[in-house]
Amino acid sequence: MADAKLRVLIVGGTGYLGKWLVEASLALGHATFVLFRPGVVSDISKCQALMQFKMKGAQLLRGSLEDDDSLVSALKQVDVVVSAIAGHKILQQLKLVDAIKQVDNIKRFVPSEFGMDVDRMRNALPPGDEIFNAKRIVRRAIEEANIPYTYVSANCLASFFLAGLAQLGLFLPPRDHVNIYGAGDKKCIWVAEEDVAMYTMLTISDPRTVNKVLYLRPPENILSQMEVVRMWEELIGAELNKTFISEKEWLAKIDAETAPFLKAAKQHFYDTFYLGQLHFDVEGTGGLDCSELYREYKYVTAEDYLKRFV
Ligand SMILES: NC(=O)c1ccc[n+]([C@@H]2O[C@H](COP(=O)([O-])OP(=O)(O)OC[C@H]3O[C@@H](n4cnc5c(N)ncnc54)[C@H](OP(=O)(O)O)[C@@H]3O)[C@@H](O)[C@H]2O)c1
Repeated sequence: MADAKLRVLIVGGTGYLGKWLVEASLALGHATFVLFRPGVVSDISKCQALMQFKMKGAQLLRGSLEDDDSLVSALKQVDVVVSAIAGHKILQQLKLVDAIKQVDNIKRFVPSEFGMDVDRMRNALPPGDEIFNAKRIVRRAIEEANIPYTYVSANCLASFFLAGLAQLGLFLPPRDHVNIYGAGDKKCIWVAEEDVAMYTMLTISDPRTVNKVLYLRPPENILSQMEVVRMWEELIGAELNKTFISEKEWLAKIDAETAPFLKAAKQHFYDTFYLGQLHFDVEGTGGLDCSELYREYKYVTAEDYLKRFV
């Protein structure tokens, strides 16, 4: 495992995934800098999280992507930048790319991705494709600027997908009823947030992953929705009532949805659970599989993750 200590700036450290990234960076002993926006002072949970980071050794830097001086000043203090900026703010990272160009000390940039490999999602439909398009624009800007990068493809984050057995907007496993997409048989990749964060932090000092896509595909977590549901039923010793939603019915739900955010979310569910996430092999992409690179790292299995909720 790569163990060189670095100075790491986390942008978006007060967010859902960013908090895990800060924790992982600190756990690996990297000098960890967290950019926080002045507006967080009125959000108690974000302030508490920042203070926890500080008590564990992180340095807190006031700034934002709208404030170029704050970015340049933060960047001058670090070797690596990891961004977990919100999905609807992805293009703001172009300012970060510009700021990185102004300094010459950044050895690696991990932009906010942590989902599907966006260069392999070119057939996604609007408005679900907007986030993929934005992430692609950021990729091209990074490459154009010759900034050393790693793109992390994390697939289904566990709190979003596994915790609710892939029920849209549900973050605890249901105990009575579950919707199944199609026959629930398309293989998906489920990854715990702590593992996304740890793999990301392992990669930043690993020369093998420079200018590569890192695919998070923990072998035991490549499971269909039905396999995940059966796993949960086994754990709670009960069978859930199931509603099977055909592809046609789900496409009709997407069509009927008027809220753009929900329409995009339903399209992402379509891509994931009707089309599946294994439509390409890592081999041949030029990318790398984390389970090959970091064999000794013990990831959280889907079963162990679900056991937390029993
Ligand atoms: N694969 C999956 O299942 C999955 C699921 C969810 C997310 N994701 C991906 O994970 C990434 C992170 O998403 P998230 O849900 O963790 O985001 P989030 O919780 O919304 O957090 C966003 C972070 O960005 C910061 N931010 C926003 N605007 C900023 C600005 N102008 N300057 C500096 N910081 C700014 C926020 O700061 P404040 O605290 O000050 O607002 C916050 O720290 C995204 O790329 C998203 O697409 C993937």
